Formats: sequence, structure tokens, C-alpha cells
Amino acid sequence: MKTPPRQLAHNDAATGAMPDPQFFIMTFGCQMNEADSSLMASLLERAGWREADSSDAADLIILNTCSVRERPEHKVYSTLGELRAWKLSNPHALLAVAGCMAQRAGEEIRRRAPHVDIVLGTRWFHRIHELVDRVRSGDRPIVCLGMEGDPSTARRPDALGVAAAPLRAFVPIIRGCSNFCSYCIVPFVRGPEVSRPPDDIVREVKSLLQRGTREVTLLGQNVLAYGRDLADKPTFAGLLRTLDPIPDLWRIRFTTCHPRDVTSHLISAMAELPTVCEHIHLPIQAGEDKLLEDMRRGYTAAEYLAIVEQLRGRVPGLALTTDIMVGFPGETEEQFEESLRLYTRIEFDAAFTFAYSPRPGTEAEKRPDEIPRQTRLERLQRLIDLQNHITIARNGRGVGEEAEVLVDGPAARGDGLLAGRARNNKQVIFPGDPALAGSLLRVTLTEAHLWGFRSDPLSG
Ligand code: SAH
Ligand code: SF4
Ligand code: F3S
Repeated sequence: MKTPPRQLAHNDAATGAMPDPQFFIMTFGCQMNEADSSLMASLLERAGWREADSSDAADLIILNTCSVRERPEHKVYSTLGELRAWKLSNPHALLAVAGCMAQRAGEEIRRRAPHVDIVLGTRWFHRIHELVDRVRSGDRPIVCLGMEGDPSTARRPDALGVAAAPLRAFVPIIRGCSNFCSYCIVPFVRGPEVSRPPDDIVREVKSLLQRGTREVTLLGQNVLAYGRDLADKPTFAGLLRTLDPIPDLWRIRFTTCHPRDVTSHLISAMAELPTVCEHIHLPIQAGEDKLLEDMRRGYTAAEYLAIVEQLRGRVPGLALTTDIMVGFPGETEEQFEESLRLYTRIEFDAAFTFAYSPRPGTEAEKRPDEIPRQTRLERLQRLIDLQNHITIARNGRGVGEEAEVLVDGPAARGDGLLAGRARNNKQVIFPGDPALAGSLLRVTLTEAHLWGFRSDPLSG
């Protein structure tokens, strides 16, 4: 049953019927935020809303925000500024700010942008449809930030829409983070780790498979912490073993992994289970021991290296990607160069690279030895140049090899090309019939690029 809309901005002139109200979600931030946005979308759809093609047509706009660095926060405020005109010309329309920055800034958002109707913290996504209804019936504005929250927020099974599921779907398995790396806002805005029970996850995966999904990516700030907070203490490696035999599940991916929590059980699961793809994202952050200690990462450069050697030894064809941060307070030129030497030795397949950004309330923010912005940016550029060089060299070594590609569909650049992903998560582009979307194909990699490979399909 659809909930009848209470206030609508317009009437459907042709039929006299009230059209479904429309929502539009803008997502900033990580894949967990993307997953939370889809959860909100399916809850709203169930409550009688429809997704708008553009923000202009929307009766409700939700900004799902990120707080991990300053820049995404600035972007939210500038977007809120731009939406002032939309709000003025649609007086009944609603504007909501959800997610990590909503959690961090709370009331301050309404002070700086009084046209915001709803501020929704990270443990409230599952209530979006109710809150929107409340505001529409005159109860305004609403700010929901409780972290004690309703634990079912984190544990609830997905809000299953009836629509077809994507070929490659994301499934949150653990929310929050209990690590408190000294620079990071995530534990403050997402709260402590809360795992979903294995049964919930299996149910959601099966439901996605029934609706067309063939690849799932298990999501969490640290998926390797999975299960520690649950009574039966299930493990992440155990979860992989539970999911692997499910029919129609072709590929399992997961992200992201804290190096300290890599176990021999994980490595064995990756080596043995056919559905588990040969890729691990293992953020290193820094490559020098004192920096790693000050960051409170819980491993040394030598320990990280040892984990990489074990992984590469047991999982042939493994792609290793990482996150690296430069310009942490106190980082000397020597420490930075030592880190670069380690990255050169490790040879990551790809890296997300960031300049340190002080976050309010974190341990690192209180340090007096902040690195000048200019130096941070220069180091970032040197790191990017090095990594690009390494990525190209590693991809170059893949030319001539065969790969299994899951075909997403037509490539964004057109030209009759299709795009897909190899098992190691690298992008592959090749000529082919769009009807191949959704299938597994064997290709020969013919040309290496920074973004992945050009290839030719193998005939027969
Ligand atoms: N849970 C993940 C990281 C999530 S945040 C992990 O620990 O691996 C994604 C990335 O943002 C981090 O890996 C880190 O490289 C970067 N990051 C986090 N806080 C930051 C800050 N204050 N400034 C700059 N980059 C930051
Ligand atoms: Fe942040 Fe560290 Fe947790 Fe990652 S593990 S989310 S970097 S506190
Ligand atoms: Fe950003 Fe929150 Fe993700 S701070 S990186 S959106 S967990």
C-alpha cells in the first residue's frame, strides 16, 4: 500500500490524480554512504515515493554527506547554498541532510542553512520515510542525532524493493568503527562497530541474487572486524565460507580491510574459495614506523610487508590496492621519503591518495606540528606521480594475459565498446554486443592504461 501524499507541490493536470511525490538523493562520501542512500531510496519507494530524474523535479532532496575531510563538508555547504533558490520556488518541498557530516555538525547545519528541514544522523537512515511524513504534516524541523539509536538501524535486513537489483551490489555487513586512528572522524560519526547477524546477510544476498545480482561487495569500515560484537563470534573468513556455495553468486568482493586484522583464515579463504575475487584493499596510510605509531594504526612497516608477502604467496594474481595519507602532523621529509621507498618496494596496483585534513575532536587535530598546506599538496603530487608510474608498470605486465570479465554494459565512451571488471577488479574495455551485459567473458588483455586494459574477446 502506498502512503497517500499529504502535501504536493503540483497536480497532475491531465488526470486530476495526484502524482507520486519525487525524491532526489545526492551522495557524498564512501561506498557505505552509497549503500545508505540506496536503503533510503528503497524505503521511500515503498512509502509511495518515486525517484526524480533531476533535483529540479524533486519534492524532497536528501544530501547524504561525508565528514572524512574538510573538502566534502565545504561542498555540502555550497550545495545547500545553491538549493536555496529551489527551496524558495518550491515552498512545500523538503530538504534533508543525512549521514556523517549531519552527525558531526548537527544543529550547526540548520544555523548556517535554515532552509534545511531534516538533519539525520548515521543511525537514523531507516526512519527517513517516517521523518519526512512528520515534517510534511507540519512537525518541523527535525534533527535526529542519537547514537544510542535503534540498533536495528545497523542490523536491519535491506529494505527490499521489488525492482531488479544491480548486477554488482553492495551489502553492508558491519557498520561503525572502534579503531580510533588518531586522524579519523569515522568512529565519532559512525559509532562503534555493529555487525549484522550472518543470517540477515545471507537472506539479503539471496534476495539480491533472485533479482539479478551476480557479484556482491561486502562493506564495512573494517570488514575484518566482522562478528566480534556478536554473541556467537562469527568471523569474516567464516562468512565468506558461508556465502561461497550459494548458487548464482559468481563473485564476492569486500572492502575495506585493516591490515592488523588479516589472519591466516582470511588468506586461506581467499586462496580456496572460487567466488572470492583476487583483490584486497588494504589501507597502509604511511610507510614509516613512527608515523604509523602516531596514527595509531597498530602495525609496523615490516608487519605490513609480511602480510603482503603472505597474501601474494597464497593468492596468485592478487591485486593489492591501498589508501595513503601524506602530511600527517610532524611528517618530516625523511619520513615521507622512507614511505615512498616502501611503496616502491610493495608496488600497489592502485592507491587512493589523500592530503591530511584536520578533523575536529580527533587526537591528531590537537597536535601543534601541523605540516603547511603547500607541503602537504606537494607531497601528495609526488606520491601520485610515483603511484601512476607503478600502476602503469604493473598493468603493463598484464598485457597478453587472459582474464575473466563480468560485463557491466556499454562503456561510457561509446564507440561500440563494452566495459567490465576482471576478477582483480581492474577495468577492461573491449568491442562487443551490448547483449553481453551481465555475462562472464574471457578476454585477452591487449593494452595497458592507468585506468585498466583494452582487450579482445576470445572467440569460442
Ligand atoms: N576504514 C577505512 C578508512 C575509511 S576513510 C580504513 O581504515 O581503511 C578512507 C580514507 O580516508 C582513509 O583510509 C584515509 O586514507 C583517509 N582519511 C581518513 N581521515 C583522514 C583525514 N583526517 N585527512 C585525510 N585523509 C583521511
Ligand atoms: Fe578511520 Fe581507522 Fe576506523 Fe579506518 S580504521 S575508519 S581510518 S578509525
Ligand atoms: Fe565519509 Fe562517513 Fe564514509 S565520513 S568516508 S561517508 S563513513
